[in-house]
Amino acid sequence: MSGNTEKILFFGDITGRQGRNAVKSYIKSLSEKPDFVIANIENASHGFGLTKKNYEDLSSSGIDCFTSGNHIWDKRDIFDYIDDAEKLVRPINYPEGTKGNGCRIFGVNGNRYAVINALGRVFMPPIDSPWSVVTNKIDELKADNIDSIFIDFHAEATAEKICFAKYLANKYNEDNNALIKAFFGTHTHVQTADEKIYKGMAYITDAGFCGAEESVIGMEFATSFKRLSTSIPERYEIAETSIAQINGVEILIVDNIVTHIKRINLIVDNSNNESEVNLEAGCKT
Ligand SMILES: [Fe+2]
Ligand SMILES: [Fe+2]
Repeated sequence: MSGNTEKILFFGDITGRQGRNAVKSYIKSLSEKPDFVIANIENASHGFGLTKKNYEDLSSSGIDCFTSGNHIWDKRDIFDYIDDAEKLVRPINYPEGTKGNGCRIFGVNGNRYAVINALGRVFMPPIDSPWSVVTNKIDELKADNIDSIFIDFHAEATAEKICFAKYLANKYNEDNNALIKAFFGTHTHVQTADEKIYKGMAYITDAGFCGAEESVIGMEFATSFKRLSTSIPERYEIAETSIAQINGVEILIVDNIVTHIKRINLIVDNSNNESEVNLEAGCKT
């Protein structure tokens, strides 16, 4: 963007082909290129994980950084390419020695942006404490004079997300001097309506997901119903309906201060031409 204004986009969990196509088309349709685009891709390849092929395809579609979550390991080839995937960030609070990186640094308009991804612990599988692992990493980045930090906190419980975000903003941000520019919650796939700027940090409890709109958080209704109503293990199937939703947030940073956060919540039709998004089809916000 022009002058000292930067536009950052963040997309909630891209889920399957419908989500990939919708986000790719949306980025292509924008008249003005954003300065930095982050997307959570933990469900991008048929709902589970990210293949190298999809990583490369999305990389060339205008997404600058990929965050992830508990599903990042679901496709076997991730172990072969994650160390070389310079745009991909996996949760930082896996045990030491885990493949991949929990924080990566990106050069944006002469500034250095760090993106950290972390997993929550409430109603989630056991994992190292995000409270200590993330603060240790931020201390390190601060000592290295990093310009801005963006966090994707992938967690189930709203209270854990709100509390962690407030803790970090109180610890590292001063009014009009925010080291942490944004804290995006992900994982539940349902967008919350609580976007705000707290202590100079853009915040949303959950950004939502990008994928089939007629679904159960991206999965087909029938298999979800069977599994949830009987409690008998049933393999989830991804929903393939052509109508997709795009969930995310848009942030503006003016002279290094976050001035604006707005939810992206669109319905698009992938059926006619995968390269075009009909934004008139049902813009919800
Ligand atoms: Fe997800
Ligand atoms: Fe998840």
